[in-house]
Amino acid sequence: MSLFRKKDLNAMLAQAEDGGKGLKRTLGAGNLIALGVGAIIGAGLFVRTAAAAGQAAGPAVTLSFIVAAVGCAFAGLCYAEFAAMIPISGSAYAYSYVTMGETVAWIIGWALIMEYALGAATVSIAWSEYLNKLLGGGIPYEWSHSPFESITDTAGVLHHGIMNAPALIILLLLTLLLIKGTQESAIVNAVIVFIKVAIVIIFIIIGWQFMRPENHTPYLIPANQPPLMDSAGKVVADYSGVFKHGWGGVLGGAAIVFFAFIGFDAVSTAAQEAKNPKRDMPIGILGSLVVCTILYILFGHVLTGVAPWTDFVDPLKGREASVAYAISTYMTGYGWLATAVTVAILAGFSSVILVMLMGQSRVFYSMSNDGLLPKAFSDLHPKFRTPYKSNWILFVFVGAFAAFVPGSVAGDLTSFGTLFAFVLVSAGVWILRVKSPNMERPFKTPLVPLVPILGAIICLAMIFALDAQTLKVAFGWMALGLVVYFVYSRKHSKLNQE
Ligand code: ALA
Repeated sequence: MSLFRKKDLNAMLAQAEDGGKGLKRTLGAGNLIALGVGAIIGAGLFVRTAAAAGQAAGPAVTLSFIVAAVGCAFAGLCYAEFAAMIPISGSAYAYSYVTMGETVAWIIGWALIMEYALGAATVSIAWSEYLNKLLGGGIPYEWSHSPFESITDTAGVLHHGIMNAPALIILLLLTLLLIKGTQESAIVNAVIVFIKVAIVIIFIIIGWQFMRPENHTPYLIPANQPPLMDSAGKVVADYSGVFKHGWGGVLGGAAIVFFAFIGFDAVSTAAQEAKNPKRDMPIGILGSLVVCTILYILFGHVLTGVAPWTDFVDPLKGREASVAYAISTYMTGYGWLATAVTVAILAGFSSVILVMLMGQSRVFYSMSNDGLLPKAFSDLHPKFRTPYKSNWILFVFVGAFAAFVPGSVAGDLTSFGTLFAFVLVSAGVWILRVKSPNMERPFKTPLVPLVPILGAIICLAMIFALDAQTLKVAFGWMALGLVVYFVYSRKHSKLNQE
């Protein structure tokens, strides 16, 4: 049996149209854009914008957003071609099954677990932190942190985390919603998206009046920027590195804000539930990317105009909860907006978790249909026609992570899984153009092979810019995946029956 055995594209398309017994086609173009925006706007915008400005880019964080968006746009164009051509729920996993064969497909499916499942866990932990902030710190430390975390309070008492209960609760609620139905989930998602986008726009409009030109001059961090010290004289930010000032800093900032764009690819996992995937998939993927990029640039421009970027690294000023800090410190009379932003953040996080959980269960659905995962992952609920068993299994896995593991562990692994998928999807578009040039392509990536090559190079560069520890854990995870493949999946693959 060849390591590169492939699935036949036409068989795959037939499987997607299985006589109305499969997932329901309920989503239109508007739903798909909302799904994308739902997965995209979250911690990346509300937390990482200030971090990128303070640590590397200064006010030019707007340019960092443009750089990261261009990198994502290359990959997004490739996703759009595949999603319109192969509208089935497995996203990058399914595309690589027909182009690069089963082993690569399995590897990418396994990497997507890092993007979606760990992404959902990371964001649910952040959700718990912000809920606690909104409630004025009322949740006991023990019940809002993992057992690996501890803190000594002002009275000198040591507290150990037991489990992160709020993270588990939000995951449970969203799992129940997903089981109830894709359309119901899409409606809740659309309401959440409306709330968070409205608050982002309100912040941009009101904040615009509080911008001060001196905060935007100079626009790039100067090469001779002295390091910033805290009150004890400890250096908290040093700008001497290549990626810490000037145009290099714009690139350094792009790597930090890349996280803010993760999620547009989740639109492609809903391809099998789209009413008119050929037309609407490209609109959903590229449309959500464009909407978010515009909002991000304006948001970054206003945030760095309202508060000096140096505040965002100062532990005594705006290093934490930067957006709320900028509002309460520099926008007199708009205290309510700081609370509204926290609500937008909670709403934003909820929809990110929702779409990530949905994306993961749809990738599992495809892998299980192909025999690479047990059948339970593709069993549909008799009434709701959602993969409910998969949703429950996922809840246990993601919930265990969210309840018992610190949030810092999972964030960069999410970026790894995403970038890895982007590289293979970019390569896949080019491969399929060469191998099957005459296939019907409702949407064509422009300038092939230039766009796929640039997409792959930019994403590979960002992978190697991740820290060494992340890369070690990620490769360990991938090695485990190969063991599972050779012990279980390869033997159960449906391709064995053909
Ligand atoms: N883009 C998503 C966020 O920023 C993952 O939370």
